[in-house]
Amino acid sequence: MSLPAAAETIRVRSLEHPDLPLVMALAQRVPAAPQWPDSVWRQMLENTGPSRCILVAAREQQIFGFCVVVHGVDEAELESIAVDPAMQRLGLGRRLLQAAMEASRHSGARRMLLEVRASNQAAQHLYAQAGFRTVGRRPGYYSDPKEDAICMECRLDAETVAGIPAR
Ligand SMILES: CC(C)(COP(=O)(O)OP(=O)(O)OC[C@H]1O[C@@H](n2cnc3c(N)ncnc32)[C@H](O)[C@@H]1OP(=O)(O)O)[C@@H](O)C(=O)NCCC(=O)NCCS
Repeated sequence: MSLPAAAETIRVRSLEHPDLPLVMALAQRVPAAPQWPDSVWRQMLENTGPSRCILVAAREQQIFGFCVVVHGVDEAELESIAVDPAMQRLGLGRRLLQAAMEASRHSGARRMLLEVRASNQAAQHLYAQAGFRTVGRRPGYYSDPKEDAICMECRLDAETVAGIPAR
């Protein structure tokens, strides 16, 4: 089976408790992903803090990507998105982002915000393709290494979310 065909059998769904070790192992394989400890993942999953939407790209017992969005009153913030390096460029990032945007829209958010490292061209291309535009820059926002953040924003209307190009 070719890789793109294999990617088609991967489905985007909500994170579940048994996924936690797999999601944390995946995060370790993606240097740009947050290395949250188990306690933080559990807290997010149990929604003890702010309301979150946590999605995974999964097939049976395998996790290939994840996406975390926090919901405010009428806006959502993309906290993280990551795809297994072995499965990148197959459309999984786009599918995760589109599903997160759709879920946020349904929960009442009218726009989605995010910050991304200025050097992270792959993620910026993904976001631009999904309808995000650059709205600002935060000098020295990131550490290790220190770097500016690009702030991006997208309206969550039905046309924008449905209009994200499929592969
Ligand atoms: C950003 C990331 C999630 C994209 O996931 P992905 O599954 O590879 O993305 P997709 O295959 O859905 O690509 C969608 C679009 O994003 C852009 N893109 C993705 N990877 C790219 C790359 N390496 N270079 C340039 N553009 C890229 C392209 O526009 C692509 O569309 P195309 O393939 O039709 O040209 C992935 O590269 C990743 O996990 N990076 C490390 C973690 C990270 O940086 N997360 C964001 C900040 S927290």
